[in-house]
Formats: sequence, C-alpha cells, structure tokens
Amino acid sequence: MIKEHVKASSSVWWVSILKKYLMGLTGLGLALFVLLHMLGNLFIFAGDKAYNLYMHQMVNMEASSIIQVGLLSAFLLHIILAFILSVKNYFSRLKKYARAASGWKATAWYQKGLIAQGAVILVFVILHLITFKFGVHYKINYGNEEIRDLFRLVVEAFQNPITVVWYIVALLVLFIHLFHGLSSSFQSLGLNHPRFNKSIKGISLVYAVLVTVGYISLPLYVFLFMQEGAG
Ligand code: HEM
Repeated sequence: MIKEHVKASSSVWWVSILKKYLMGLTGLGLALFVLLHMLGNLFIFAGDKAYNLYMHQMVNMEASSIIQVGLLSAFLLHIILAFILSVKNYFSRLKKYARAASGWKATAWYQKGLIAQGAVILVFVILHLITFKFGVHYKINYGNEEIRDLFRLVVEAFQNPITVVWYIVALLVLFIHLFHGLSSSFQSLGLNHPRFNKSIKGISLVYAVLVTVGYISLPLYVFLFMQEGAG
C-alpha cells in the first residue's frame, strides 16, 4: 500500500517536472522565433525589394520544412501547459486558503501575470496572422518573378494609428512576458542556483529590450516616415 503510494507520488512528481521542462523549452524556442522574426522584419528599412525577397525566401523555406510544424507545436504546447499550470495553481491557492492557519505558502515557479500576458499575446498573434499571413495577397514583379508584396501590406497596415498603438501596447506586454518568461524558463531548465540569478535576469532583460525595441521601431517608422504605396 505504502509502496504504491510512493510509486504514484513519484510519477506525479515526474509528470510535473516534465511539464516544467517542456514549458521552459517551448518558451525558449518561441523566444528564439521572436528574435529571428524581428531581425527578418528589419529588412523593411532596406526597402520593398529586400523585404519582399527575404520574406518570400522565408515563407518558401518554412512551407517545405518542419519549421512550420515545430513552431505551431511549440505555440500549442506552450499554451496548453500554461493553461494546465494555471488551473493547478488556482486549485493550490484554494487549498492554501483552506489551510491558511498552517502558514503554508504557494509559490508557483512562474508568476501569475505570465498567464494574463500570454493571453494578450495570443490575441495579438491571432489578429497578426489574420492581417499578414492570411491577409490580402498583393503581387509584385522583380525581373520575371512574381511574388507576394508583403511590404505593401505592412506599410498599409501601419498607416492606421489605432493599429500602431495596439502593436506598441501588445509589444510592451511581449516585453514583460519575455523578460519574466525567459528568467522562469532558465530556472525551470535547472539554472536556479542563486549564483546565476543576477546573470539570468540581466540576459533576459537585454534580450527582451532588444527584441521589443526592434519590433516597435517598425510600426513607428512606417507610420511616421512612410506613405502608403512608397517603395
Ligand atoms: C511589428 C512587427 C511585426 C511585423 C512587421 C511582422 C510581420 C509579419 C508578416 C509580414 C508575416 C507574414 C509572413 C507570411 O506570410 O508567412 C508575419 C507572420 C508571422 N508573425 Fe509577425 N510581424 C511582427 C511582429 C510579430 C510578433 C511580435 C510576433 C509574435 C509574438 C509575430 C508572429 C508571427 C507569426 C507566428 C507569423 C507566422 C509565421 C509562419 O507562418 O511561419 N510577429 N509577421
């Protein structure tokens, strides 16, 4: 009886460790995606041809490879695990209140705010995909090749001040999520020695600042300095 109980609680422990690892790993994978996506989008500053040809190459590469499947799986797994962890956290908080007198304290490895930030980012990504990935398919010719004119779509989208403000707000939420989420990811992957705490915080902060400044520069630049139809 005791043996079975120990066996059951050790498998619960393993499942919980696995969930934390997967949450950390998918978080790091997504953080890498947002960095690469931001760097690619900086081609906007080089004009329509550079941007469209780069995006064309990326879309072709992604379509014919496992990147697309990997990205989608990481997104879904990250969201599902976040949901499971937040439900679990909710119930442990209920237990905590029931046992308030015992002085027991529920300290989740991830902050509560991460879930709310994640929800904003999810809404952002869905609207973003509708606008760009599944948006109007303008075409443009370079030599004898006709490709999608994503540059025109991006410039068009960021003429609207409401879109620009929404992007800035969502990107600031992404900043907080990246900063806190990266630190949590490193910790759940084992880097939780107090000696590393400061460096992990520092690296996460620099990473989040770079990604956010890079992204925010795009809608701002387009809105302030580019007219629709300009190339
Ligand atoms: C303001 C800056 C941004 C610009 C200008 C931008 C632009 C684009 C464009 C033009 C596409 C369509 C490419 C295609 O057809 O596949 C795209 C796809 C995508 N973007 Fe963004 N993006 C920005 C920020 C972001 C952010 C912050 C995220 C995530 C939090 C994100 C996530 C995605 C995803 C997941 C896709 C689909 C990629 C795929 O299908 O492989 N983007 N973006």
